[in-house]
Amino acid sequence: MEILSLLVGAGALLALVYVIRSLRALHQKVGRQTEKLSNGIQKINELTRNSSIQDYRQIEAYVQLHSLIKFSAPLPATRGWVGSPDLLLTLAQIVKTHKPKLTVELGSGVSTVVMAKAGARKIISFDGSSDFAEITRNLLKDHGARGVEVRFSKLSPYKKSSGWYDPNSFKDIKGIDLLVIDGPQGGDDPEARYPALEVLIGKLSSKSIIVLDDVKRAGERKLAEDFLKALPKHRLEILDHEKGTAVIRPK
Ligand SMILES: C[S@@+](CC[C@H](N)C(=O)[O-])C[C@H]1O[C@@H](n2cnc3c(N)ncnc32)[C@H](O)[C@@H]1O
Repeated sequence: MEILSLLVGAGALLALVYVIRSLRALHQKVGRQTEKLSNGIQKINELTRNSSIQDYRQIEAYVQLHSLIKFSAPLPATRGWVGSPDLLLTLAQIVKTHKPKLTVELGSGVSTVVMAKAGARKIISFDGSSDFAEITRNLLKDHGARGVEVRFSKLSPYKKSSGWYDPNSFKDIKGIDLLVIDGPQGGDDPEARYPALEVLIGKLSSKSIIVLDDVKRAGERKLAEDFLKALPKHRLEILDHEKGTAVIRPK
């Protein structure tokens, strides 16, 4: 009888140890999951906070843009492919301050209208899509903008770029005071915009300013740094814009 109760007691003890160990393992597992979840929530909070700061900055830039420039028609949404308001405001300010005689732009669109309305005297804006070139021309017409040529130039593989403008379409260009690089699209190809350096470096005036959009991407950032290397009397400023803007100007 005693042996039986000893055995039952030992069995109960073993069962208790088993339950305690299982509970401890479960507790540790829940702890790990909770930590993962709270890290995830922290990340989401950070992203939401950064994105609302960024959205607010874009609204601030958009409001300032409209106070600097009197537009005579609506502007398309400045999201996605279009230059962000912070870039557009920088372009408007550069044009107003430096009054470039010749502006060359790679990648036409709202930025073309902004620079024309800010007072750029002559703009030649290249576009690799005849459809988007036409959309820009119509937008310029709606805004009564003058002094702008939107030049369609077919994209083809060039050096390491999967698609760049026909270099022959730049033959008549010299003395660029403001060069804006926001094309070709380039999202999937870090080298897409790289030929701009080789083809256009010799066409810049000594006081030229170069603005590159999308320098948060490695390929565009490298292009900005290589432009600077080729222009030792210039300095490079990286603006913490939505897509990252590089401004290269004389020291
Ligand atoms: C980054 S976009 C140029 C944007 C322009 N600088 C602006 O501020 O509106 C570069 C090129 O993408 C092309 N593009 C523009 N909108 C597009 C769209 N919605 N889908 C695909 N390509 C587009 C055009 O050919 C344009 O030259």
